[in-house]
Amino acid sequence: MEFEKNDITLKNGIQIDERLKHIAFIMDGNGRWAKRKGLPRELGHRQGAAAFSNIAKYCEKIGIKYVTVYAFSTENWKRPKKEIDAILKLLDNYLDQRYNDRVSVRFIGDVSVFDDRLKNKISAVEKETSGRELVLNIALNYGSRAELVNVCNRLLKEGKNEICESDISSRLYTGDCPDPDLIVRTGGDIRLSNFMLWQAAYSELYFTDTLWPDMTSEEVDKAIADFYSRKRRFGGLDKQVSENP
Ligand code: IPE
Ligand code: IPE
Ligand code: MG
Repeated sequence: MEFEKNDITLKNGIQIDERLKHIAFIMDGNGRWAKRKGLPRELGHRQGAAAFSNIAKYCEKIGIKYVTVYAFSTENWKRPKKEIDAILKLLDNYLDQRYNDRVSVRFIGDVSVFDDRLKNKISAVEKETSGRELVLNIALNYGSRAELVNVCNRLLKEGKNEICESDISSRLYTGDCPDPDLIVRTGGDIRLSNFMLWQAAYSELYFTDTLWPDMTSEEVDKAIADFYSRKRRFGGLDKQVSENP
């Protein structure tokens, strides 16, 4: 898809351009946020869901074409049932809201494991919002290794005996979505936790100690400013270096 010129300038003076098409968020730190306040973890997730709504709206406002959020991983099933149920209930409520007319909501991950009621709601939202100018990917029961195994199994079923990179990337859950330019992880841990291992090959990574429920638009602006201060070489040389050997 063509990048439509976006004339939005952030409060910090940064102008967003075609270099920043896709931001992905690893929304971590809900449990610790609750613990610090002496609250049950479930309330951390509730506050995290509110932060997600705010940040998603902010990214829409500043015209980020693709936004992905890591909401629930294939490994998060290890958590107590009570916590998992609370997270899925929040998702269920989210599916009932009215969506911004500019945004296509898509789910990435293996949603086949959910009950029919939730699956039907997910596909109804995807259908209702399809074909819009901005994309919000919600990674649910998502794990990058499971995603790659799924791709391999599909390729085997298709009978391929030789493949190229695009055979893999086009069959990922992210499909035609460009790779994330910037991955932001809140909560202070410096790792990807099985998130977009293929797609993150050349992503810029930004880590912050801010816990996800405390995430603000100012911090998003800070991450974007940091992104624009980086030199992305993709294995090549800086422009001025390659032009003046
Ligand atoms: C992220 O917050 C949300 C999910 C993984 C579902 P956590 O629940 O992992 O919060 P911490 O890392 O325990 O603080
Ligand atoms: C990553 O957070 C997954 C999500 C944000 C959904 P985790 O809390 O599950 O990651 P680890 O266990 O600290 O690596
Ligand atoms: Mg965590």
